[in-house]
Amino acid sequence: METTTFFISLLVLFASLFYVFCKVIPSRPRQQAKDYQLPPGSTGWPIIGETLDYLRTARNGVPEKFVDDRKSKYSSLSSSAAATAGGLCKVFKTSLFGETMALLCSAAGNKFLFSNEKKLVKVWWPSSFQKILPADEAYRIRKHMYAFVKPDAVRKHIAVMDQITKRHFDTHWSTKMDRKEAIMFHSLAKKYALALSCKLFLNLEDPEVLAELEKTIGTIHAGMVSLPIDLPGTNFNIAIKASKKMMKEIESMVVQRKIDLMNLNLTDPEQTADVPQDLMSSLLLETFSDRAEVTAADMAKTLSGTIFPSYDTIINTLCATVIYLSELPLVYDAVLKEQMKIAESKDEGELLNWEDIQKMKYTWNVLCEVLRLQPPGSGTFREAITEFIYEGYLIPKGMKLHWNVFSTHKNPEYFPDPHKFDPSRFEGQGPPPFSYVPFGGGPRMCPGKENARVQMLVFMYNLVTRYKWEMVFPNEKMVVDPVSYSTHGLPLHLFSCKS
Ligand code: HEM
Repeated sequence: METTTFFISLLVLFASLFYVFCKVIPSRPRQQAKDYQLPPGSTGWPIIGETLDYLRTARNGVPEKFVDDRKSKYSSLSSSAAATAGGLCKVFKTSLFGETMALLCSAAGNKFLFSNEKKLVKVWWPSSFQKILPADEAYRIRKHMYAFVKPDAVRKHIAVMDQITKRHFDTHWSTKMDRKEAIMFHSLAKKYALALSCKLFLNLEDPEVLAELEKTIGTIHAGMVSLPIDLPGTNFNIAIKASKKMMKEIESMVVQRKIDLMNLNLTDPEQTADVPQDLMSSLLLETFSDRAEVTAADMAKTLSGTIFPSYDTIINTLCATVIYLSELPLVYDAVLKEQMKIAESKDEGELLNWEDIQKMKYTWNVLCEVLRLQPPGSGTFREAITEFIYEGYLIPKGMKLHWNVFSTHKNPEYFPDPHKFDPSRFEGQGPPPFSYVPFGGGPRMCPGKENARVQMLVFMYNLVTRYKWEMVFPNEKMVVDPVSYSTHGLPLHLFSCKS
């Protein structure tokens, strides 16, 4: 009896609690997407949007101004959403490259975009870019490319990198020493970066083919930064044709390599020793998990999609580094000291190895500081694959999003005295998470980061241990209009390091 009474009382108690919860305490209605607003901001002029201001601030050497001006303008808003965000604007709306987009302007914003790939957002490129260089979104091929440039794979390429770098210096630099002739650093850096990528990815060394490819890439670049008008004779139209031509050429190299590989007995170690150890072979010899055919055209897309981003990024970082080292003798001396110590430990003709690279800590911090102040790209784009709320604002499905390195790289909140060149920022713990993002982050982070790091360190070693230099134009700077370049092509007078 007592037990029955107990259960009945329990039931009544639950029923009463349920009633109170549902009826007496008025339920808070779930907020609907329609209750939220788009982030504050302006879409500027029709079509052009705010692109001109974006490009102008970069051209004037203050790309951070585009973000900073808008951040302070929209931080003063007293909307409930801004209040939620602590009064500080963490996202604003703008219109760039013909698209309305949300620019997320904090380390937390970078983290949000990088960690929501394929959940809330996906990679997006302006259609003009995609028309010239159609991105390869086939992950099954891309993941094999990632494996080729991942850190332990890169270690196997150090000797080749050093060999190509030494050959480049012997051919193009040493003949011009002692004021015989100034070298044009920017154009030589292009030759160097292309020679190295083509060796690593296509086993291509023929100087004539390389020179032709360099011209084609120049044409493609010119089109990427021109007005996207696809009419005969425009830079844009010429670039589309140049890109198709480049793709066809790489495709025919893939077909030829496939024939060469088919003529080899790959179980015979003597014959496999002749197989070039490049990305092309590694893609052709891969057994794809789904066993579906991977065409030569698909491979050409992946190969050109690896060569292209590895080219301009390296060149611009090397140019900016040479300028900083010319202007900062203490930093130059410390780099020289570190590299000379490594050079002195090597036998005549001995190539660099992984142990040497690990000793280049200060030089890498210098390169990191260059990449903070003068990153070769200002950020990339994503597209919302579903509707979501960010910092109290609505991001509708299909809206484009932009993460911009200058939101954090030159922000005193993350980098005290942000305009000072200070490689010690990268010692110890380094910068706060997601504030330093020259290579992006998350699953779409630059897969070539380690390749780039080792390649640039190998270059710096050979540069400072062989030559001293003087800039022909001591005040020469890198400008962004809309891509980075040195104002005079960075001519340098070279002297032997031993003199
Ligand atoms: C200083 C040198 C470099 C910098 C600063 C850099 C930076 C970047 C950035 C910011 C992205 C976009 C990341 C994102 O959207 O989240 C990217 C993508 C990419 N980078 Fe690099 N990169 C460099 C060198 C290289 C090199 C040497 C390679 C090739 C070995 C390379 C291959 C790629 C590829 C293939 C992608 C596209 C990845 C994808 O779509 O998933 N990059 N890089």
